[in-house]
Amino acid sequence: MRRLEGRVAYVLGGGSDGPARPGEPLAMGNGRAIALRLAAEGACVVVGDKVLDRARLTVEHLDGEGLAVEVDAADPESCRAAVERARGLRGRLDVVVCNVGVSGREPLRAQSLDDWEFADAVNVRGHWVTAQAALEPMLQRGSGSFVFVGSTAGVRSSRRSLSYEATKAAQLAVMRHVAVRYAARGIRSNAVVLGNIDSALVRREFGSGGGDARGAIVPMRREGRPEEVAAAVAFLAGDDASYVTGHSLVVDGGVSAAWPSPPAPAPAPDPVPQRGEGTS
Ligand SMILES: NC(=O)c1ccc[n+]([C@@H]2O[C@H](COP(=O)([O-])OP(=O)(O)OC[C@H]3O[C@@H](n4cnc5c(N)ncnc54)[C@H](O)[C@@H]3O)[C@@H](O)[C@H]2O)c1
Repeated sequence: MRRLEGRVAYVLGGGSDGPARPGEPLAMGNGRAIALRLAAEGACVVVGDKVLDRARLTVEHLDGEGLAVEVDAADPESCRAAVERARGLRGRLDVVVCNVGVSGREPLRAQSLDDWEFADAVNVRGHWVTAQAALEPMLQRGSGSFVFVGSTAGVRSSRRSLSYEATKAAQLAVMRHVAVRYAARGIRSNAVVLGNIDSALVRREFGSGGGDARGAIVPMRREGRPEEVAAAVAFLAGDDASYVTGHSLVVDGGVSAAWPSPPAPAPAPDPVPQRGEGTS
């Protein structure tokens, strides 16, 4: 199906950072899989990434026209400039996917201000600034679709990183605000809320092993794949979801539907507070 024929999509964080799955030549992250899928659906895809070569690699594999742009989500001016370049390609922008996200690993006692501010800058501010820059021309045309790549950690605590959980919750608030505020003017805004995905990101952060253990706590008994994330994003981005807005589509193999929750590994012990804050 080519549900996005003639449309232009911009994927923020459309490269991929981390090792490939065994036997695969191309490291697959959520952002890259989304870009490839939107192109396969007929969209002309602009891939934004902090590392231009990662964006270029994605564009090389697109089925159709694309453009790689360098962008730092932590820098508002850079976010705005990237949206302008995306719009300049064909004079329109139909779909914006805010995929980029950084995770910390600091629980409350170790939460540093720097980590908090960086997570906010990338996971929240970078997303709303991008949406703001893309919104105006969409409003003029009377149509546009945003998809934010979220995490179940924004809905339930993963017991690891305070900044990640808080910023992923805030990201969903941004998604809902855009949805409700501009629904009557042809704009849709939705999110995918991801559980354990066998992505290059996870391989980078947790090593290439451990997939079986992560999958074991999932009712489907496996991790998800970036391509499955991309399929959900493609649905939300296009007209099949024409009456869907403000929605968080959970892509987690059933984890958040389960009660009692599947047993998760115990979190690492709290690190010793660094700044004389907190008590032992
Ligand atoms: N993989 C999982 O299990 C999982 C689970 C829940 C949520 N997520 C969400 O998925 C999203 C990312 O998935 P991915 O697989 O594409 O990750 P990824 O780490 O491969 O990142 C994609 C790209 O983002 C780029 N990037 C990093 N910082 C950037 C910045 N400041 N500005 C612009 N680009 C930047 C990287 O260079 C990389 O190419 C995040 O929003 C994350 O919270 C992933």
